[in-house]
Amino acid sequence: MSTKQNTDKQVFTPRTGDQIRKAFIDFFADRGHQVIPSASLVPDDPTVLLTIAGMLPFKPVFLGKESPPAPRATTSQKCIRTNDIENVGKTARHHTFFEMLGNFSFGDYFKREAIEWAWELSVNVYKLDPKNLVVSVFCDDKESEKIWRDFIGVNPKRIIKLNEKDNFWSSGVTGPCGPCSELYYDFTPELGDENIDLEDDKRFIEFYNLVFMQYNCNNEGVLVPLDNCNIDTGLGLERMAQILQNKPNNYETDLIYPLIEKASSLAGVDYKNLDSESIVSIKVIADHSRAVIHLISDGVTVSNLGRGYILRRLLRRMIRHGRLIGIHNPFLKSMGCVAIDLMKHIYPQLENKKSLIIKELELEEVRFLQTLERGEKLLDEIIGNKKSEISGKDAFELYDTYGFPLELTKEIADERGIKVDMEGFNDEMKRQKSRAKEASIPIDMTEMKEIEKVTSEFSETIFDGYNCLIGKSRIIAIISDGTTVDNASEGENIQIVLDRTTFFGESGGQIGDKGIIFGDNSMAIVNSVKREKNVFVHSAKVQEGKLFIDKIVNTKVDQHLRECAQANHTATHLLQSALKSLIDSDISQKGSLVAFDRLRFDFNYSEALTNNQLSDIEHLINQWIVEDHSLIVKIMPIEKALKIGALAMFGEKYGDVVRVVDIPGVSMELCGGTHIKKTSDLSIFKIISESGVASGIRRIEAVSGLAAIEYLNQRDRIVSSLSNYLKAPQSEIYDRVISLQNEVKSSEKELISLKRQLAITKVLSLASQARLVGDRTFVVQRLDCVDSSALQKAAQELINQLGTRSAVVLGGLPNPNDLNKVIFVAAFGQEIISHGLHAGKFISQVAGYCGGGGGGKPNIAQAGGRNGDLLNNALQEAEREIEKDFSR
Ligand code: SER
Repeated sequence: MSTKQNTDKQVFTPRTGDQIRKAFIDFFADRGHQVIPSASLVPDDPTVLLTIAGMLPFKPVFLGKESPPAPRATTSQKCIRTNDIENVGKTARHHTFFEMLGNFSFGDYFKREAIEWAWELSVNVYKLDPKNLVVSVFCDDKESEKIWRDFIGVNPKRIIKLNEKDNFWSSGVTGPCGPCSELYYDFTPELGDENIDLEDDKRFIEFYNLVFMQYNCNNEGVLVPLDNCNIDTGLGLERMAQILQNKPNNYETDLIYPLIEKASSLAGVDYKNLDSESIVSIKVIADHSRAVIHLISDGVTVSNLGRGYILRRLLRRMIRHGRLIGIHNPFLKSMGCVAIDLMKHIYPQLENKKSLIIKELELEEVRFLQTLERGEKLLDEIIGNKKSEISGKDAFELYDTYGFPLELTKEIADERGIKVDMEGFNDEMKRQKSRAKEASIPIDMTEMKEIEKVTSEFSETIFDGYNCLIGKSRIIAIISDGTTVDNASEGENIQIVLDRTTFFGESGGQIGDKGIIFGDNSMAIVNSVKREKNVFVHSAKVQEGKLFIDKIVNTKVDQHLRECAQANHTATHLLQSALKSLIDSDISQKGSLVAFDRLRFDFNYSEALTNNQLSDIEHLINQWIVEDHSLIVKIMPIEKALKIGALAMFGEKYGDVVRVVDIPGVSMELCGGTHIKKTSDLSIFKIISESGVASGIRRIEAVSGLAAIEYLNQRDRIVSSLSNYLKAPQSEIYDRVISLQNEVKSSEKELISLKRQLAITKVLSLASQARLVGDRTFVVQRLDCVDSSALQKAAQELINQLGTRSAVVLGGLPNPNDLNKVIFVAAFGQEIISHGLHAGKFISQVAGYCGGGGGGKPNIAQAGGRNGDLLNNALQEAEREIEKDFSR
């Protein structure tokens, strides 16, 4: 390898991660590739949760659904894969987060150039010695084999033919795919060319994959040739760094090592002298630190579903591995800060979103530590009772109700030599899934299929309804009972597709319009309108006459309802703007519902808003309403819209040309919905609730316009009737209610004390009925509604009256509705005691009949019981016992 340093571009060998990344991009930029920045980790592709490869953002291009950004492109793409998360930290090269360097051709160059440049880059730029290189090809791909052998000159023994398991690449079960050819680095070429086993990852590391994207694997699993022969390549940045920095694994390269150092110092350990399990834990923490900061900065928040769950899982794995190496205090923030510092120069949004990232890390850490503490306690109780096995039901309850990870239940059970019934756990899981399914709304599949068929045949309904509510249309299709029909008559419920419509189709959270479709002698009532891609499907009931295909009809939208929906839609824009300016500029919309009578707005924020914050928000929005700002709707290219600061909804797919709804100085959003003309059309805005809907997601429900007035009127009616009832002016209602409550409380106290006095008086009156046995007397009596001190007092009083040769036993329910609490008191006079009787011992025996116990002094003692049903029996026993003792 060259010994010359940075002076000459040709001979300089990239070493650091940054240099390797830059050298790749420069190499392909020099060869006519457009440099495209990394796409988000959250792909615009419903078939995958995360961006798992550099090619993912180009999937629609490979499939011919979108035109390519340029004939050739090059990217450094952030990726996350969690399918083999168990291997992270255990092998030299598995990661969740990694950066993939790629060069792409969209029907431009193909195998020859891809192979030639891959070799040139490896040998001339990264300066890998050809003797360290081995390549693989797909066994049927003679063309690639020939290029490597005859054109590049690779020794045929170092061209390994692999089958479709290893050398046929696809991003999922369906989608673009093709044979591939890989480049491997051989750490010990001296072992020779015979019996090369590329699976031997101590000797070889695959660093570059060239995929010849020629097919689309369709839903039936058939490979359909694509219109173009494309190239998709991926070079693992971390792997190349391992090779060029001469490290034993990816973790010790400059891309990750600072995180290893940080985790070690937090745990107070020396990474170089650690046992292998702790090394794995440190590597897991380092790896996941990179993944989580990028996920959060790309808008993912912790939840129990989809991407949110992946994030939660990564964070919880970090915490668990932290505990394994002795970090018991919160530490995710420290790791997150180091990870951000390490990558912010390449991904500046990490720095911009730092506070958001740190907040999310801290919150989940607190939550999980609480979960762990509670789960460990519950698990202790479960294990305490069940010696041999933790049942599937218990493990599932811990997991499902208390969020305690199954892996942890297994780990702890294992430490105590107990098994977890996994079969039972899986059964519980299945049962829960089917419960969830039963609870969901049934969809008429035949109807859906037919609608899909119609909408795929007919490409677009023109929407005329932004400015007018009445229009003329032609009927394109009618669906009745899941089949396309030519006509529909009175009484039928149908779906109608029109060539154009003034009805808004439900989208972007806004509800579809209601209204009527009518022609000569025919009329249908439209109950809802949905959008299937660009086709509007009107669900309607034919009220009169007949509707048929090709008939020209009129559409008429219910104006009042439309105005309500518009007002609520504009209100959501104002609400987003108010939240951003008053609460946190990082807040963004996570979902919304714009109905006729109310609106709902979900947004990312980790704490509940206070009443003061909510009234500030209301105040600001009502101020904007009063200021009467006009709305301006503009159509423009998306780049321009984003440049002038229009807010786009995260994860939403927008076309090249977008609609911008601008309320100058107040709000500007990309939006396809319908809106009022000026803010004063809203009349009034009122928040009716604020709540949490998922971890880190809050929801505000609000009303505007007439609905808000109706809401306030309702409140007013409540207040008025209260005021009448209390005979208090409205401003004094609050104080009046508080003083009434206080009065009730003190009356209750008085009542209790009166009841007690009454009970005592009653007992004292019993003195005359005391039973005489020889020269001794006794009273055994039940006395409810009296607390223990009053009972003791009554017993003592009776003894005082009856004299030293007497015994008193009282028992009762302090609260007659609570049979679980029984109290007993015994009081014995001095002479009774001298004869060897002991109130403490005696009462303890009596209480035993009611499942309780107690004790005390020889002269007075108290005991409790738990079974009120047996109270009378217990007192009878007491009576018998005393009689027996007195007769001796
Ligand atoms: N898509 C291929 C891979 O991920 C090449 O980039 O390996």
